[in-house]
Amino acid sequence: MSNPTATDHIDAMLHENRVIPPSEEFAARARISREQYDAMYRRSLDDPEGFWGDVAGELVWMKPWDRVLDWQEPHVQWFVGGQTNIAYNALDRNVGRGLGNKTAIIWEGEDGTVRTYTYAELLREVKKAANALTSLGVVTGDRVTLYLPLIPEAAIAMLACARIGAIHSVVFGGFSVSALADRINDAQSKVLITADAGQRRGGLVRLKENADQAAQNTPSLEKIVVVCRADCDAPMQEGRDVYWHDVVGSAQGEHEAAALDAEHPLFILYTSGSTGKPKGVLHTTGGYMVGTYLTTGTVFDLRDDDIYWCTADVGWVTGHSYSVYGPLLNGATVLMYEGAPNHPDWGRFWEIVQKHRVTILYTAPTAIRSFMRQGDEIPARYDLSSLRLLGSVGEPINPEAWMWYYRVIGGERCPVVDTWWQTETGAIMLTTLPGAHPSKPGSAGLPMFGVEPAIMTHAGEELGPDDGGLLVIKRPWPSMLRTVYGDEERYRKSYWGEIPHVYFAGDGARRDADGYVTVVGRVDDVLNVSGHRLGTMEIESALVAHPSIAEAAVVGCPDDVKGECVVAFVLPQAGHTVDPNVVRTHVAKEIGALARPDAIYIADALPKTRSGKIMRRFLRQIAAGKEIQGDTSTLEDPGVLDRLAATQAV
Ligand code: WTA
Repeated sequence: MSNPTATDHIDAMLHENRVIPPSEEFAARARISREQYDAMYRRSLDDPEGFWGDVAGELVWMKPWDRVLDWQEPHVQWFVGGQTNIAYNALDRNVGRGLGNKTAIIWEGEDGTVRTYTYAELLREVKKAANALTSLGVVTGDRVTLYLPLIPEAAIAMLACARIGAIHSVVFGGFSVSALADRINDAQSKVLITADAGQRRGGLVRLKENADQAAQNTPSLEKIVVVCRADCDAPMQEGRDVYWHDVVGSAQGEHEAAALDAEHPLFILYTSGSTGKPKGVLHTTGGYMVGTYLTTGTVFDLRDDDIYWCTADVGWVTGHSYSVYGPLLNGATVLMYEGAPNHPDWGRFWEIVQKHRVTILYTAPTAIRSFMRQGDEIPARYDLSSLRLLGSVGEPINPEAWMWYYRVIGGERCPVVDTWWQTETGAIMLTTLPGAHPSKPGSAGLPMFGVEPAIMTHAGEELGPDDGGLLVIKRPWPSMLRTVYGDEERYRKSYWGEIPHVYFAGDGARRDADGYVTVVGRVDDVLNVSGHRLGTMEIESALVAHPSIAEAAVVGCPDDVKGECVVAFVLPQAGHTVDPNVVRTHVAKEIGALARPDAIYIADALPKTRSGKIMRRFLRQIAAGKEIQGDTSTLEDPGVLDRLAATQAV
């Protein structure tokens, strides 16, 4: 655990001993009390089949399961033999229980346009979109890539795929042409759903232009469906491209949801790993549905009249589980906001909370830290009294940011739930339940139902209270990833092969005597930049693909706002000079703007062992401006470090 972010965070946490209980008022009305949690948690471990069977029984199954759990490490199946449909459960089921006129989605565009959908309206749109996809030739099991801004059509398209059993693969709209093409090719998608453009900070992001370029190298793609978000100005290719408003607009409004096996694949979502290309994390229908349904209801203490806002884009797992599936399965009213948090100014989030009377806000520490930087006066201008619960996700939250969120945004009235989970886990794994548990700022908290965490050494020895080690999960849970799409071996190795017989999360953590787990950050070569996962290898391969660069090493460096920033060490190709601007643009083009290096060191050599391994530990120290610590004797040329330390980053 040489990651400096982790060390700094541990330092802060060791000095952090505040314990903040929920208010009596909140606790009195909460869905789950401490005693209930204890009993439910115990049952979820002692009798997992009974526990999960009961939760699943709250939802509609077209065919009951024969067996709740089948675990053949590393392969798990939940609700074996059962058939269901997650879109049916999110929509038809809620309309059926009288929520047809309840608002399902309130969407606000960056330009202030507001669109709302009731559950009945959303169902109708999803049915039409399902029919449209079918008319384009999409059948059960086909892959459909979505490359969209955060507009209602994104949720509609996801649900339409789920309704017919097509597997969606959402690619974040900030990803580049080549990142999009790679993901389409890996999934072998037949259809791409995109938009002419998205709005970001007052400008337009021309998604269709990127899609057109990507489509030059994606032989599997047959059709592109284009949503008109901006000016409908995108060039359309005859025979391949169709407008959403044409195909969905003219589609039939009746559609019966497909009965799908519980283990039928629901979606692929690509995420960075420590080696190689991004992994296509595969989730299936039944377990994911049950996991997101239960966690959304309990962690956010959902009530009928809540206005629930998760700020994540649907391009990330948080957007999948907690902007779309989890809240809609619970019949909640979900707010979606398309644009940037600081457009037109830093009051935008608070204006939205005030305008729509948001009661639950779920966002990322990086956003909280950027708001905190702007001072308390901005949120003070808005009426935030509708808020009753706050959530944090995506990266460790430092106690200072936690306290600011609690005090300035929550008015010391709203519990803050810090939720730890991953693309791979599908749903929240560690948190406090807001009416049941006191919070400890900086610590995610206790295991959710069915989750059995442990802190271990690499050798698989379990560690005691307060010892730092590796976070593992000792048994499968329903919303667990099933495999890495098309790469079984990678699944086995990355998750169940690092430490025998446990799920290896890739995070460092410790657990205190009360069982609260503090997750300090990645222990592998994955960076967490503004809550977004980036593999150092991915950025390195993008860098060396540039003609001016011979070799590259990328490390993370602690950053007050982003959590971590990207620092690149590059060796120029003989006879070339490295232009940092060109390099940054190149990385943005290869991966996306979020991977652009914040600092670039142009070096004449990298610190390597005699066997040629780059010693990133030293590069991290240099990037953080720290003294070199540790044994440098294994380096082939220890002088490299002095030369690098004397180099100015550009
Ligand atoms: C980190 C996002 C500390 C962690 C849901 C994990 C966190 C990675 C927390 C997964 C948290 C997420 N406290 N660290 N509350 N939540 N992380 O796949 O390093 O985008 O492994 O899923 O984010 O990121 P992913």
